[in-house]
Amino acid sequence: MIGIFDSGFGGLTILKAVEKALPQYSYLYLGDNKRAPYGCRSDAEIYRYTLEGVEALFARGARLVILACNTSSAVALRKIQQEVLPFRYPHKRVLGIIIPTAEESDTFSQTKHIGVWATEATVQSGVYEREMLKIDPKLRITTLPCPLLVPLIEAGSKSSDAIKEAINVYIEALFERDTAIDTLILGCTHYPIIEDEIKSLLPTHVRVIAQGDIIAKKLAAYLERHADMETALSIQMDRVFLTTSADEEVKRIADSFYGERVGLEMVVL
Ligand code: DGL
Repeated sequence: MIGIFDSGFGGLTILKAVEKALPQYSYLYLGDNKRAPYGCRSDAEIYRYTLEGVEALFARGARLVILACNTSSAVALRKIQQEVLPFRYPHKRVLGIIIPTAEESDTFSQTKHIGVWATEATVQSGVYEREMLKIDPKLRITTLPCPLLVPLIEAGSKSSDAIKEAINVYIEALFERDTAIDTLILGCTHYPIIEDEIKSLLPTHVRVIAQGDIIAKKLAAYLERHADMETALSIQMDRVFLTTSADEEVKRIADSFYGERVGLEMVVL
């Protein structure tokens, strides 16, 4: 199966796009809702939680895991790839979502001034600036931590006044730093859940980039290049959803965010 991991509901936005492009595969989703948000946690915690999530997905049959979480991709991916996989899981793979997004960044903006909204841990890591400047050194990148958004989204409301207020605060902070920004990357997979609200409050000339379609395209290309992985994947079209939270409300919200019945199963990490 293809494992999809996030701290909570954000990865559903990646899963939706990936399964639309590649419906034939089987997907195993894990949201660590009990311990979300990750974005305000220490690097050591983010690494430990992410590794626990990845190992749980491996144990249930994932051969390939996508960290559908920018925070985990920023903080934990490289260490897992370099220090864990070669020794404990030489035939398994873990992929992140920041480098694939950065690789497309020269196509995003007319002005070359790009804003990135992300969690505190992702912004602290500096990984967006680093990876995007490798692609185009002329880009002007402004990263802004948006710590209010994930807790509000995980609490289940897409369009509450509190969410709108928080979005407005972050829009103002972004343009205070750089008025020439014409593109906003949603650098946290939770944010596309409120993409419509964000778009309705942003100036209309600003393009919003969500990662789902980019990751779907990059995954398709990856599987084309790695025939051994592709042939090892199940094509039963199964969908299994796991969460670390026992809260009934979490299950209800998952259905609503995914747009169909998800039937979350609880796991302990
Ligand atoms: N959705 C995640 C991300 O893309 C994590 C958000 C969080 O748990 O703080 O960064």
